[in-house]
Amino acid sequence: MLCCLPLLSTAQHHNVSAGYVPPSDPLVQQNLAEWQDLKFGLFMHWGTYSQWGIVESWSLCPEDEGWTVRRGPHAENYFDYVKAYENLQTTFNPVLFNPEKWAEAAKQAGMKYVVFTTKHHDGFAMFDTKYSDYKITDPKTPFSKHPKANVAKEVFSAFRTDGFKIGAYFSKPDWHADDYWWPYFPPKDRNVNYDPVNYPERWENFKNFTYNQIEELMTSYGKMDILWLDGGWVRPFATIDTTVEWQRTIKVEQDIDMARIAKMARGHQPGLLVVDRTVPGEFENYVTPEQQVPSEPLDIPWESCLTMGNSWSYVPNDTYKPARQIIHTLVKIVSRGGNYLLNIGPSPEGDWDPDAYDRLKAVGEWMAINGEGIYSTRTIEPYAQDNIYYTQHKNGQTSYAFLLSGSDSDAIQLPSTIQLALPNGTPVKRVEILGLGKVKFKIKENTLEITVPDSVRTHADLHYAAVIKLSH
Ligand code: GLC
Repeated sequence: MLCCLPLLSTAQHHNVSAGYVPPSDPLVQQNLAEWQDLKFGLFMHWGTYSQWGIVESWSLCPEDEGWTVRRGPHAENYFDYVKAYENLQTTFNPVLFNPEKWAEAAKQAGMKYVVFTTKHHDGFAMFDTKYSDYKITDPKTPFSKHPKANVAKEVFSAFRTDGFKIGAYFSKPDWHADDYWWPYFPPKDRNVNYDPVNYPERWENFKNFTYNQIEELMTSYGKMDILWLDGGWVRPFATIDTTVEWQRTIKVEQDIDMARIAKMARGHQPGLLVVDRTVPGEFENYVTPEQQVPSEPLDIPWESCLTMGNSWSYVPNDTYKPARQIIHTLVKIVSRGGNYLLNIGPSPEGDWDPDAYDRLKAVGEWMAINGEGIYSTRTIEPYAQDNIYYTQHKNGQTSYAFLLSGSDSDAIQLPSTIQLALPNGTPVKRVEILGLGKVKFKIKENTLEITVPDSVRTHADLHYAAVIKLSH
């Protein structure tokens, strides 16, 4: 077992799966099926907050004081803190920004799609919006002079060139927008700070602002595959699930009119996946358990988003998970039918911590040999047996058993005989250990018995997870 990887219990599964509505648009269905084959994607949280090495956005939110810790000499009072935080715009200058380098490292690691924070809850746009001057391309931001100032555009085009599917993370709440946190009142919590019922015009303005910014992203940034919308408290009352604790705290209805947004977005980007996360219904094309992995397969499309370090945002000297843990997590997720969106937070200078490159390189070396058991696979019973995890290729002609190393060791020692459970009557023509070649086997009832030669058992090339391929 992996340490420190929270699992979703069956009861929680029920919550993530409840209310799922499969898309009816054939282009969305096709994009979703393609996306499910990709399995492994890169998430990036990047904004001016990286300069203070603090959690993204949340220190602005009064209810979240405690775990977010305000930084520096700016915390005398809330309004000065907000000023100082927003003033980070005037020093944000990530001159090492080189998205081709990121795309190259992610590609080599076997990642196939990217989701990038175009705007987090703090409202700072990492793209060239004309609806706000709180943005990377505003003259107040030093990086605006740089030829790659429109960073979202540069990230998307570098990754697209490397064959990635492209996802825009966009926060529905915007704590900088006067129509969301109206300065007439102090903000109390993450929600809109006035009641849209009493101030319908103001809310209408906010809806239009959100619609317009999303339209910019859908029209000026090339082909987009995923619109990943965060801030699930911005939702109609009717969608609140009162069995979920945090949803019970939503006191104000914040209907952003997803139908209108999705129609516009798909008008520009046919087949676009819309992920209005945690809001079950037709605009949540897949579900997104966060920092958690379901403990068994889910029968709907899903993606776990997990951090490589301890934070979504860049924190100096953060501890990055070892390659072994990343690979074990990938295997578990894929054996349960999900995708793995792995987050790296870029630094204020515009690069990743060297440890992040190091982990991706090790993952890539493993994927180069074993990736065929990951991509385009489906779940297969028994999914897992002790430390062995199973997948099958969607063409039904091969299946794979992953034997994980111990949770604190990279090396693998295979036993001289391996027994795998087989579904009734499965024909097996050939058995191979990926990277090392064919091995002898016998079938006894529903058990495949593999004989592992001594030269293979402790082979130096075996680490993290040995993959046994069965051809049917
Ligand atoms: C959590 C964080 C949020 C982050 C998100 C990514 O909800 O609070 O800041 O963007 O996870 O999934």
